[in-house]
Amino acid sequence: MNPVPPATPPSPQSSLVLVVDDVQQNIQVVGTMLREAGYSIMPATSGAAALQRVQKKLPDLILLDLMMPEMDGLEVCRRLKADPATQSIPIIFLTASNEVSHLVHGLAAGAVDYVTKPFTPPELLARVQTHLELKHARDTMVRYGQELSRLNEEKNEFMGIAAHDLRNPLSAIKGYSEMVMEDGESLQHRELEENGRRIRDTVARMAEMVQNLLDANRIERGEMILSLAPTDLCRVVASVVETQLPRAAAKQQTIHLECGAAPIKALIDPAVCVQVFENLVSNAVKYSPSGKNIFARLKTSDAAVRCEVQDEGPGLSAEDQKKLFGKFARLSAKPTGGEHSTGLGLSIVKKMVEAMNGQVWCESEPGRGATFVVQFPTP
Ligand SMILES: Nc1ncnc2c1ncn2[C@@H]1O[C@H](COP(=O)(O)OP(=O)(O)O)[C@@H](O)[C@H]1O
Ligand SMILES: [Mg+2]
Repeated sequence: MNPVPPATPPSPQSSLVLVVDDVQQNIQVVGTMLREAGYSIMPATSGAAALQRVQKKLPDLILLDLMMPEMDGLEVCRRLKADPATQSIPIIFLTASNEVSHLVHGLAAGAVDYVTKPFTPPELLARVQTHLELKHARDTMVRYGQELSRLNEEKNEFMGIAAHDLRNPLSAIKGYSEMVMEDGESLQHRELEENGRRIRDTVARMAEMVQNLLDANRIERGEMILSLAPTDLCRVVASVVETQLPRAAAKQQTIHLECGAAPIKALIDPAVCVQVFENLVSNAVKYSPSGKNIFARLKTSDAAVRCEVQDEGPGLSAEDQKKLFGKFARLSAKPTGGEHSTGLGLSIVKKMVEAMNGQVWCESEPGRGATFVVQFPTP
């Protein structure tokens, strides 16, 4: 997947040129040449007028007369180059042949090129087009650079989190196995079994985490293959609830399934949907205190099938809700039963739901529980 889709190269039709000259007739001549080639023109008959016009609308390129009364082209050029908003707009000076000595200053002030009056249309148009293309190439490079450094930061964060999160279970496994090796003979069979179970559970947790990281990457690269089929969502949600019952029971929580008797069909990939609801229901279990209720609810209307997972946990602040579906979002709510948290689950959920043409969002107020809503169009 290309992170920076190439923007369309500049065409005259998509380009606006600011023409600055104190002689109205010069503007007309230049304006006609450019308009006939398809460019849009923004005229200004003084330096001050030019500076005012760029405040309202940014041109793609500026043709600037060097010699003008009051504020000359050099000063206009300096001011445009000093302003971050206009800094990158290419400026071409229009000069009379006897002004060539001033050009050095113009180029020093940041102009990219000059055209000596009188000039022919091909001469002017070639320079204009060249500098628009150069500007476009520069902008594209800057965007690629920004995108690359963003991706690099994300990679670093990813590595940091993966390393950090894998270190804890690894040292736990090390501890359990050392215990077995050093005290093996004195340990009861029951204790050995207990250690084996702990090692197995810790490995399972690590495997789950690695799977999550791989899923996140696969989805991001557009490599997730979905097979959408009309499927009864009640069965999907019911099966997920069933797998989460032991975890909820361990925290004295009750999961209520509300979906009526009739099937509620949506065009989904059942296996992917299971992952979506596993994440939502397991979050409800993970972030709710013990003894609370969790509701998994399905509703249908003409246009959409709506699935809700509602809990009586801590809820989420507006601030947390903004970050909720981002990667590595470990927010204010912390697991209430020592469970593991990577902050990846909901970012995967969002991508999966959207890949199935659905939407997912959270409705919550701090202290009043959270409701996660997944909505699919009815088939
Ligand atoms: N039902 C919920 N109630 C309160 N906070 C939640 C709930 N679900 C998720 N969160 C918050 O959002 C964060 C991101 O969740 P998620 O992406 O599933 O990652 P993880 O569960 O691995 O931390 C969690 O760390 C938690 O702070
Ligand atoms: Mg989660």
